[in-house]
Amino acid sequence: MSPLLMLIVLSLASTAASLIGKPGCQTTCGGVTIPYPFGISAEGVNVNCSLPGFEISCAKNNVPVLANTHIKVLNLSVMPRPEARVQLPVAWTCYNSTGGVIDESTGAVDLNRTGVYRISDAYNELVVLGCNTEVYTNSGPGGNQYQNSFYTGCISYCKDSRSAQDDKCAGVGCCHVEIPPDLTDNWMYFQTGWPHANMTFSPCDYAFFVEKEHYKFKVSDLTNMRGKLMPVRLDWAIRSNISNMSCAEAKTSLGYTCVSRNSECVNSTNGPGYFCNCTRGYEGNPYIIDGCTSTFIYLDNGSDGTHGDGQVV
Ligand SMILES: *[C@@H]1O[C@H](CO)[C@@H](O)[C@H](O)[C@H]1NC(C)=O
Ligand SMILES: *[C@@H]1O[C@H](CO)[C@@H](O)[C@H](O)[C@H]1NC(C)=O
Ligand SMILES: *[C@@H]1O[C@H](CO)[C@@H](O)[C@H](O)[C@H]1NC(C)=O
Ligand SMILES: *[C@@H]1O[C@H](CO)[C@@H](O)[C@H](O)[C@H]1NC(C)=O
Ligand SMILES: *[C@@H]1O[C@H](CO)[C@@H](O)[C@H](O)[C@H]1NC(C)=O
Ligand SMILES: *[C@@H]1O[C@H](CO)[C@@H](O)[C@H](O)[C@H]1NC(C)=O
Ligand SMILES: *[C@@H]1O[C@H](CO)[C@@H](O)[C@H](O)[C@H]1NC(C)=O
Ligand SMILES: *[C@@H]1O[C@H](CO)[C@@H](O)[C@H](O)[C@H]1NC(C)=O
Ligand SMILES: *[C@@H]1O[C@H](CO)[C@@H](O)[C@H](O)[C@H]1NC(C)=O
Ligand SMILES: *[C@@H]1O[C@H](CO)[C@@H](O)[C@H](O)[C@H]1NC(C)=O
Repeated sequence: MSPLLMLIVLSLASTAASLIGKPGCQTTCGGVTIPYPFGISAEGVNVNCSLPGFEISCAKNNVPVLANTHIKVLNLSVMPRPEARVQLPVAWTCYNSTGGVIDESTGAVDLNRTGVYRISDAYNELVVLGCNTEVYTNSGPGGNQYQNSFYTGCISYCKDSRSAQDDKCAGVGCCHVEIPPDLTDNWMYFQTGWPHANMTFSPCDYAFFVEKEHYKFKVSDLTNMRGKLMPVRLDWAIRSNISNMSCAEAKTSLGYTCVSRNSECVNSTNGPGYFCNCTRGYEGNPYIIDGCTSTFIYLDNGSDGTHGDGQVV
């Protein structure tokens, strides 16, 4: 290995840690990596460890949560897509033998508190469980007719206690639908007017967002989904109070966040705003100066002092 190459390799290794977060900031919590613009604010740290709206808390038992919420963070990524994988609660409504509502939870969490998160329409679906059940969710500011911009949900029915089948989520005991972009809450509306008397095989209705391919319906779930959590992928972008701009405006504005060389701006497709990406051939963190590093490392067999053929590793 030539001295030059050795230097490059050494410097790559020593800068790797500082390319995840801001210097002096904690970059992991409970096994989850916290890449900037996410960050854990700590007393005595002289920099903003996150962009506003991207704060993560790491208090109780070293469990990362979206700051000021109980929403547990499973994974945060900047590249190749801006994503926060979190756990959201299953919503439910339970009935007694005469069909009266005895208990319920709407699942509301308000993901738009800081303005940066949207439920990913590309990577999640809405699932409803129950045997005489209509559930929908809604989101966004209203138009002329209704209070919200989006309403989506589905209907599930069972002829009797034996009609639902494991692994079949097609309208009997279980239904699922694609969701629109711009959803900002986990809130579910249950159509409680439909008869539910004497349905001991399905005493509750349930509804939840979940990442596609993750959930497989089991008939036994008709009786035991209360209190469960599901993995959901959130899209995030630079928007809201920080900036609400598309790339065209953001690029010429103060506080433009794609600060690394070899980074580019991408318009958000789920909600307003933009995000940053390293350009082709680079990886790392476009939100940090020099955060995008080459994915090509040139191996030099070097005996003759010239550079060998480039080889991707
Ligand atoms: C941190 O952010 C606040 C508000 O966004 C700003 O007023 C302050 O100057 C920032 N501090 C540092 C050290 O960048
Ligand atoms: C978290 O996301 C990163 C980047 O997308 C991925 O490489 C990693 O496998 C993920 N980890 C988990 C536990 O999902
Ligand atoms: C079922 O609940 C309804 C209201 O929630 C109540 O009026 C009714 O008495 C309850 N029935 C039984 C059998 O407990
Ligand atoms: C956004 O701006 C509004 C009004 O200017 C303010 O009340 C709110 O606290 C800000 N939110 C964040 C996350 O900074
Ligand atoms: C999200 O919150 C911002 C203010 O922070 C608001 O302007 C916007 O309409 C909200 N979006 C949705 C989909 O609720
Ligand atoms: C529920 O079952 C009880 C006892 O078998 C019966 O008296 C009642 O009529 C049933 N209610 C409905 C709505 O089917
Ligand atoms: C951000 O954009 C949305 C939709 O374009 C708008 O409703 C909202 O008022 C804007 N918020 C700010 C703080 O400019
Ligand atoms: C981003 O969106 C703005 C406004 O909608 C548009 O003018 C611009 O061409 C878009 N940029 C890219 C790279 O798609
Ligand atoms: C970000 O860049 C990588 C590498 O060039 C590319 O594979 C990926 O599709 C880009 N992501 C987006 C959302 O444009
Ligand atoms: C270096 O690579 C060249 C071309 O691939 C090869 O001909 C040569 O034998 C290599 N030298 C050493 C010392 O491995």
